[in-house]
Amino acid sequence: MKKNFYITTPIYYPSGKPHMGHAYSSIIADVIARFKRIEGYNVHFLTGTDEHGLKIQREAEKNKKKTQIFCDELSQKFRDLTKILNLSNDDFIRTTEKRHFNSVENIWLKLIKSGDIYLDKYKGWYSVSDEAYYDDDEIENTNGAKTSKVSGSKVEWVEEESFFFKLSSWSQKLLDFYKAEPEFILPFSRKNEVVKFVEKGLKDLSVSRTSFSWGIPVPNNQKHVIYVWLDALTNYLSALKYPDTKSDMYKNFWPAYIHIIGKDILRFHAIYWPAFLMAAKIPLPKRIFGHGWILSDDKKMSKSIGNILDPIQVIKDYGIDQLRYYLIKEVSLGNDGNVSLENLKNCINNDLANNYGNLCQRVFAFVKKNCSNKIPKKEILSKQDKALTDKLKKDKEHLIKLINQQDLNNYLKKVIEYSFDSNKYFNDSEPWSLKKTDPKKMNSVVYTIIEQIKNISILLLPIIPNSANKILDTLNVPKNLRQLSEIKEDSKLEHIKELGNINILFKKVE
Ligand code: ME8
Ligand code: MG
Repeated sequence: MKKNFYITTPIYYPSGKPHMGHAYSSIIADVIARFKRIEGYNVHFLTGTDEHGLKIQREAEKNKKKTQIFCDELSQKFRDLTKILNLSNDDFIRTTEKRHFNSVENIWLKLIKSGDIYLDKYKGWYSVSDEAYYDDDEIENTNGAKTSKVSGSKVEWVEEESFFFKLSSWSQKLLDFYKAEPEFILPFSRKNEVVKFVEKGLKDLSVSRTSFSWGIPVPNNQKHVIYVWLDALTNYLSALKYPDTKSDMYKNFWPAYIHIIGKDILRFHAIYWPAFLMAAKIPLPKRIFGHGWILSDDKKMSKSIGNILDPIQVIKDYGIDQLRYYLIKEVSLGNDGNVSLENLKNCINNDLANNYGNLCQRVFAFVKKNCSNKIPKKEILSKQDKALTDKLKKDKEHLIKLINQQDLNNYLKKVIEYSFDSNKYFNDSEPWSLKKTDPKKMNSVVYTIIEQIKNISILLLPIIPNSANKILDTLNVPKNLRQLSEIKEDSKLEHIKELGNINILFKKVE
């Protein structure tokens, strides 16, 4: 029986073109999804777009487009990005789809039935940019404008009839839950923020709006549309055919193993979402991982600051595997991290071209020239030969653990270390001298280094799938054997009759 694993990205607002921050979240989720697949899991990986609410309605008006058409066009750009980023997502959900409406209406009715929703009037601050309500003590004056201390975005005063969710009555249950599931919110620093916030006591949450219409109508009260965050969060369920809880999708994949998000939307995922689910008596996801910011010159990359690296341009100029590798290597997941073209170029040259790329290329060239392009038979291996491949094999469980803790950064560091060590081993073993003096020993060296390249390439599949697959193609490793289980003591290379051709893997960049 295959084990199931459900992972999601945030669903992005199609209010503008996708940028590097969106690419970053999606790549993280993709790396984890791909890793769990090669670990043998049955993975469902979801991403999509969040299309309702005032923010989108206003943006469409600004662009003089019908809201639905505006959404169609921009959502398509996010869908295109999944291809450009080489994401392995199984589904792409849009909150304007019918399947999603059904699911949100169902949740709403459940919350009505449980007595968790009541009608009243909202009076307070609202940030359209965040689609978030803020308390008085979360507001400050910035250059004459009212802004949120939490996000820095502008807020406006709202007074209107509204349905409320009884969030206040869930404070203690949330705190109990965080205690019982200490790894529900990661990283731990983020968890502490959330716990402190909830400990102050939660206020009831406005969950409907009446002053605009772009949203899912409240069942039985068409004056209201459902608050966009209650709508958006439910996407994680709609994509599993909820409310059909008998469906295989729901049964296999809910509760989600992990929601990958940025730290800006932690409150919604770590407080509102579990509260809604508890009230609706739906099991809670296992984990919320709130990653940090991609920064440029120590500032958050954002449209208004104008320090955006356009992922599509970077990929055109440098390649998708290069960008994926760089983002995972450079930013320690959970923390903020600066990115720059200068560092991207260094990373491409040092890690990819000079290290992994060079390793593969020089070994393959050697095999072509000295072994008629064939893998020699396995001879008795020396201590040094065994030491090289054993280290990686022994680390396998540890590597799995690193991914399960979302420590992608240290995972990659380890893998690239194997590649570095392999280059050193190849140099030190001098197979070119052994050719005359001890051809059997040369064969052992070649055998060992090929096995190591195969194992490193399997470990790199989640991060640089195109390049790692190219190497595994060259090695004629069948697709169904590109799995962690193939990294093993008695792994065989006999099936590699002859190496395929390979062009330059990573060009050096100036
Ligand atoms: O918040 N660095 O959508 P959104 C890293 N629709 N990640 C960044 C980033 C940056 N500079 N900028 C954005 C929404 N992100 C809601 C989500 S989910 C049910 C609804 C990433 O388009 C990060 O993941 O504003 C952040 O949480 C997300 O984009 C916000 O995307
Ligand atoms: Mg945002």
